[in-house]
Amino acid sequence: MRFNTFVYLKSLYPFKVKILKMENALTFIADHHVAFVFGILVFFGLMEALFGYLSDSRRNKDDVFVEVISTFFLLFITKPIVFFLSFEGTKLLFPTGEGVWTGLPFWAGLIIFLLVDDFLQYWYHRSSHEYKWLWKHHRPHHTATEMGLLVSYRESIYFFMMMPNIWWLGIFTYFGGGIPVAVGLVLKQIVIISSHSLARWDVFFYKRPFLKPVIQILERIFITPAFHHGHHAVSKIDAVGNPNGNFGNMFSIWDQMFGSATFTHAFPAEYGIPNDPQDPWQAHIFYPVVTSEKPGSELSKDFIFEKTTKTEPAILTLKEGDYLYCTCGYSRSQPFCDGSHHGTKFQPIRFSIKKEREYKLCRCKMCKKGPFCDDSHLKIENGKV
Ligand code: FES
Repeated sequence: MRFNTFVYLKSLYPFKVKILKMENALTFIADHHVAFVFGILVFFGLMEALFGYLSDSRRNKDDVFVEVISTFFLLFITKPIVFFLSFEGTKLLFPTGEGVWTGLPFWAGLIIFLLVDDFLQYWYHRSSHEYKWLWKHHRPHHTATEMGLLVSYRESIYFFMMMPNIWWLGIFTYFGGGIPVAVGLVLKQIVIISSHSLARWDVFFYKRPFLKPVIQILERIFITPAFHHGHHAVSKIDAVGNPNGNFGNMFSIWDQMFGSATFTHAFPAEYGIPNDPQDPWQAHIFYPVVTSEKPGSELSKDFIFEKTTKTEPAILTLKEGDYLYCTCGYSRSQPFCDGSHHGTKFQPIRFSIKKEREYKLCRCKMCKKGPFCDDSHLKIENGKV
């Protein structure tokens, strides 16, 4: 498909020469945006290899298959098909609308495209952590026990088909925003791939106090590696991880706006999901057509998602340390969190024990004091609830 050019730019004087050059550059990027995206992947791949990040990789065979196959599906099958369907679908709905936004200034088009794209992706991503059926398609992204550029694209094949911002590409292009779409995709991939990569460019800023103001401004706009790595943590037990937040993809503004942002300037101790049953790559990519046979797996046919709350509190001797208290009521390790809250709107409460002794911990999930029993369960026993 040929992208529209910006005739309006040519009429501007005295910046004509400069603008025409910029127009050529933009058209070049648009025409070769796929090559640019591959270039970004190769660049970060080389960085990871050159700095030895891959030499002690924890990836197993299933991880490699999930990453390579899901990346292949996205780039060569899902995205082209969704783009075609959304472009042609918009044409059917708005037959006279093709190219009507061609006269929009490039920067305006780029900003509109990226903001709508990223807003849609923020809510789709957040929903995939809050609804179980969608979580199962996003789960492969979080079973990676180490970061890396190809983690960016590890999802079930259906996850990308339903992704609203991919549909937005075809819609915006149909209305004449082809060049902003192509340039925006390149810019967005730089942020997304770098935030998943093992090449943590932001560490350079954290280590130099005089550069801290720069990163503090940057991270309030764009997603940094530390911000996104926190989202991939196994849990928030280390006070760095934020697996139930930091959902942004290109911009961090949505997380700040909707209360899901945590900035720590640190990287989690552990990546992945708690109690990972190590499902085969086929189940990760093709669930529910292919299911897992691993006992207790969310991707297995006989997986049961049921409440495990109890009326009586648990009386336990706790040692000094940090704990995660289950608030969702689905944990199989009550009263502690075992990660079962993934795919719900709940998240655990982190609490610290300073003195070893016996504690009464809530299992009815009605207590107002977080993990500690306040006898709210008596209301259940007395039939008042
Ligand atoms: S299992 Fe984590 S909050 Fe319930």
